[in-house]
Amino acid sequence: MSTQAPLNHITLTRPDDWHLHVRDGDALRTVVPHTAAQFGRAIIMPNLRPPVTTAAQAMAYAERIRAAVPEGVSFEPLMTLYLTDNLPADEIARAQDAGVVAAKLYPAGATTNSDAGVTDIRKTYKTLEAMQRAGLLLLVHGEVTSPDIDLFDREAVFIEQQMIPLRRDFPELKVVFEHITTKEAAQYVREAGPFTAATLTAHHLLYNRNAIFTGGIRPHYYCLPVLKRETHRQALLAAATSGSDRFFLGTDSAPHPAHLKEHATGCAGCYTAHAAMELYAEAFDSVNALDKLEAFASFNGPAFYGLPRNTGTITLQRESWTPPESFAFGEAELKPLRSGEALPWKLVA
Ligand code: DOR
Ligand code: ZN
Repeated sequence: MSTQAPLNHITLTRPDDWHLHVRDGDALRTVVPHTAAQFGRAIIMPNLRPPVTTAAQAMAYAERIRAAVPEGVSFEPLMTLYLTDNLPADEIARAQDAGVVAAKLYPAGATTNSDAGVTDIRKTYKTLEAMQRAGLLLLVHGEVTSPDIDLFDREAVFIEQQMIPLRRDFPELKVVFEHITTKEAAQYVREAGPFTAATLTAHHLLYNRNAIFTGGIRPHYYCLPVLKRETHRQALLAAATSGSDRFFLGTDSAPHPAHLKEHATGCAGCYTAHAAMELYAEAFDSVNALDKLEAFASFNGPAFYGLPRNTGTITLQRESWTPPESFAFGEAELKPLRSGEALPWKLVA
């Protein structure tokens, strides 16, 4: 048993969020300042309607995001393209010239705004070859979509059916298995070699699937891939705190108007950008691993992407505070995770 006094302050190199949804239009004015207050950069998901499929669209979107960053705050959006069956291989060179860092693979129908996603990964092989040559990363939503596969098994089945063949066919393509939720995915990534990494969300480190059903159905805990059972959560926390440099922070903060989550067919996505580092600190602290948080949040991501670390720091303090019930979100309301509930860690600088 450790006899060390608990840490009450922790100062980290400024972290990055390697998986983020900020939407567009008025929504940017609420969510971009939350992320920019904590992170130096974020990988911006391209699942807008219509999706971001050209370098020119990605650059225009980056400008709209930058315009929502508060004065005096330094924050850089890292842009991605949405991979479709028809994304032309020659768009990759334009993307690379424009500074786009990755393309996102959504299996068609897997999640929010994924109808334009990939129906058969072999249709994208020419484009993946161009990405492998150019050094663009492939970010993968790793779930099969077949209706006969149980929702809770879709990630584990994806590894066998899609990820292993993909890795075999493109051994030097850098692949990020996004928002992993299972012990199978954690183990796969641990053993997959230097070209494969994974992001982990704060909510999958803090919650198991009971959270969706405690005292009634709780739509604000519904996301995709869906929360799994406790054994998986523990395996994810072990991976995040293992010291392996192929696991890093990606919030998958995914804002939706509250009325569309509290709905007969509620949208998938947890909004965590308002308290992202506080939630990760809580998860790491729960297993006495705050000393592993800086590498996970600030070092491993830039190393895998081949980018420099941020300069500057942030400081978290053990101090209880309560996120608001909601934020304005265009004309609607946005309910953050843990709204109205105390959090034990607070970002103080
Ligand atoms: O819960 C999710 N929400 N999972 C995703 O993959 C997409 C995201 C969104 O865009 O809302
Ligand atoms: Zn996402």
